[in-house]
Amino acid sequence: MRALITGGAGFIGTNLALKLAEIGNQEILTTDNLSRRGSEFNLETLQSKDISFKKSELEDVPGLIPYFKPDVVYHFAAQVAVTDSVTSPKRDFDINAKGTIDIVLAAREILAPVIYTSTNKVFGDNVNELPLEEFKTRWDFQGELKGKGINEDFSIDSSHHTPYGISKLVGEMYVREYGGIANRCSCMYGPHQNGIVDQGWLSHIAKKIIAGEKITIYGDGKQIRDVLHSDDAIDLFIKQGKAIISQGKEEFQGQAYNVGGGYENTISLLELCSMWGKEKKELNFENWRPADQKVFYCDISKAQEHFDWKPQVGYKQGIDQLYQWTKENQHI
Ligand SMILES: NC(=O)c1ccc[n+]([C@@H]2O[C@H](COP(=O)([O-])OP(=O)(O)OC[C@H]3O[C@@H](n4cnc5c(N)ncnc54)[C@H](O)[C@@H]3O)[C@@H](O)[C@H]2O)c1
Repeated sequence: MRALITGGAGFIGTNLALKLAEIGNQEILTTDNLSRRGSEFNLETLQSKDISFKKSELEDVPGLIPYFKPDVVYHFAAQVAVTDSVTSPKRDFDINAKGTIDIVLAAREILAPVIYTSTNKVFGDNVNELPLEEFKTRWDFQGELKGKGINEDFSIDSSHHTPYGISKLVGEMYVREYGGIANRCSCMYGPHQNGIVDQGWLSHIAKKIIAGEKITIYGDGKQIRDVLHSDDAIDLFIKQGKAIISQGKEEFQGQAYNVGGGYENTISLLELCSMWGKEKKELNFENWRPADQKVFYCDISKAQEHFDWKPQVGYKQGIDQLYQWTKENQHI
């Protein structure tokens, strides 16, 4: 199998490329413009495993597709920060929406399906209109969604989205329109991640704690997410690729999947800081950020059923592993 991975030196791209290389019997081409800090270190890791890499702006990747002729395109390159999308919405659109349709159309020419990482932000502010319950260290849904989470049928309409939520939704719609799969990811974490204040919060907080720096929390710190370890995310993406290509399961093409760790892997910012020895009084608090969701966790049953998939890495084990990895890779 030939797999093209855009954003291939990013966090998820690197983890996928390493896993595919470990499985063997596949030709992998990773591309990235190396704009994300940390991607240059990931590139060294890819090169140490002899994984092919081409430095490329996303707009040039469609031109590579007819030559490499992938069986599947894993499209991960993106403008990933909500905050940057608010300050530079046009740039965000160009990368996430226009960049995606161009990839999709080029892949369509050679009948290669696109597997895409969308986001829970496609649901926009609809999530914030749900009734919530407040607990000592977390918010949670009230009523029938409690413990169950948001499924794929939850409305994406009639609400305010951030520009990032819009551009990723536009990308998602093109991917699905032309027979690809869109994974609406919650919050992924794991090795090869270089979290920043705007994206990758578990990794960002780990870095702050290890460096002995003050942690700033936007909002009250009780916001919760269902966190998913990269090993589990990659496991799903590989299963999806196999299902479409080797098993010819066309019924999965055009689908959207909510992808996260599920309720059992929910954690709030306060709970994470406490796990790493930082209690509330030691944290710095600022105002909520635009359209931040107090609660997001998803119902992952559709992905579980379609791909016989289940997250295997519990959040406590995964978070310990992330901390160790971050400690051993402080140069990133
Ligand atoms: N990490 C998460 O928790 C999360 C959650 C929801 C969705 N996603 C989505 O998953 C995907 C991967 O996320 P990630 O965490 O690995 O991010 P990442 O920033 O680590 O990886 C993205 C890579 O894309 C590259 N890139 C950015 N703009 C580019 C451009 N114009 N041309 C070429 N390369 C470019 C960057 O250099 C980076 O290496 C993204 O599409 C993101 O929107 C991630």
